[in-house]
Amino acid sequence: MFRHLFKRKPLALLHEEMRGDNRLRRVLGPWSLTSLGIGCVIGAGIFVITGYAAHFKAGPALLISFMLSGMTCIFSALCYAEFASMAPVAGSAYTYAYATLGEFMAWIIGWDLVLEYTVASASVAHGWSKYFQNFIGIFDLHVPSAVARAPFDFDPAKAAFAPTGSWFDLPALGIVAILTIVLVIGIRESSRFNNLMVAIKLAVVLLVIGAGAFFVNSVNWHPFAPFGWAGLSVFGHTLWGQTGPDGAPVGMLAGAAMIFFAYIGFDAVSTHAEEARNPRRDVPFGIIASLIICTVLYIAVTIVLTGMVPYNQIDVDAPVAQAFERVGLRWGQLIISFGAVAGITSVMLVLMLSQPRVLLAMARDGLLPESFFGAVHPRFRTPWKSTILTGLLVGAMAAFIPLGILAELVNIGTLLAFVIVCIAVLVMRYLHPQAERPFRCPWVPLIPVLGVLCCLLLMFSLPSENWLRLFIWMLAGMLIYFLYGRHHSTMAQRRRSGLHDG
Ligand code: ALA
Repeated sequence: MFRHLFKRKPLALLHEEMRGDNRLRRVLGPWSLTSLGIGCVIGAGIFVITGYAAHFKAGPALLISFMLSGMTCIFSALCYAEFASMAPVAGSAYTYAYATLGEFMAWIIGWDLVLEYTVASASVAHGWSKYFQNFIGIFDLHVPSAVARAPFDFDPAKAAFAPTGSWFDLPALGIVAILTIVLVIGIRESSRFNNLMVAIKLAVVLLVIGAGAFFVNSVNWHPFAPFGWAGLSVFGHTLWGQTGPDGAPVGMLAGAAMIFFAYIGFDAVSTHAEEARNPRRDVPFGIIASLIICTVLYIAVTIVLTGMVPYNQIDVDAPVAQAFERVGLRWGQLIISFGAVAGITSVMLVLMLSQPRVLLAMARDGLLPESFFGAVHPRFRTPWKSTILTGLLVGAMAAFIPLGILAELVNIGTLLAFVIVCIAVLVMRYLHPQAERPFRCPWVPLIPVLGVLCCLLLMFSLPSENWLRLFIWMLAGMLIYFLYGRHHSTMAQRRRSGLHDG
């Protein structure tokens, strides 16, 4: 029985499937893919979480946190790019794991990607709701408090969850509903909408850097690392560095683990390989180009932000907009709030675009019911049923569950996916050294090994409850696999009918 859990999907079978009928439409070029990457990356991380991370975790040394997190992502991105060029089908890391580590690990990573895409979309929807309310607040408009936020949230004063007085978060639910409709209608329309959002947010980020640079005061960079350089803990025991009042690690490394959220999404490019016009060349380009552009912008924004405001006065809800208000640039605040709403919208769009494509790949392999998750709309050529299901789940989580609970799960889940992809590149090089690799990750095994080590370092710099939540999530995933996927997988069916034995 255990032997079957590790049955790999042959590379030739992947290539054969790519030629099938029920495929998505190939409309995306290299810059549309790069734009999808940027669309998914720059959002709540830089516009919202940077404030908390600088204020409570790293101080101005957040700049180094961004570099470290960016480097971790670049190692992983090079591994993603190699795979994406070899097997440009929808499914991303899930498909790569199936071809190298076998069915069980593929299921685990597919299940893990739900954390990255669906749960991240819900976290980001909360950020959208906050910035949206902030933006309309400038015009003295307000969402009724009964529908302004999740019904409960963590109260730092009581160190416990407490009712907020709201029933649910209506703006978060509304944006999820609108995006779900856009996504069902089609990838071409989604891509156009995304390009517009990306243009707006890039303009705003450049404005922040260009205008903010005039207000930098280097005194604000001292002390540079008020929380130290580390922040490493294992299951609640601090191994290296300081611990904050809530028992979670603080310091530059802890800042890097938190701000990792800002980079999540570049890998979404690889889930669109099936819609790329020239996937073997353009998908690696899209992954790496979007990541490099975002890393450079993040570093510049962090230099400006920590130079404009003393780290312990950086606002936690709308740090970038508030920094401009502080130096008297109220027009800046207005433009930045608008840019943040646009930016966060595109993050949600791409995350919610990616999830159904991973589910589609899993359904094609029989690990999920194909009649539902594999259904491609006859006219729009989009995986419409799973897009609507994703929308419902994201909407429900965004409406009722507070940001803190959702966001913490996302980083650890994504880091785990990156670890598996880095390992999978090594396994693939060993299993199929001669396979065609239009893009080759340089310096193998060094880069994948560094990727694994950096991701593990960041995972251990996250508060320890995250490990527990990840464990529970994975346990639920395993249950589904053993009750459903293992019996229905197409590999198992082929095995039973004697067609193929891996
Ligand atoms: N990287 C994405 C963001 O920052 C998830 O919103």
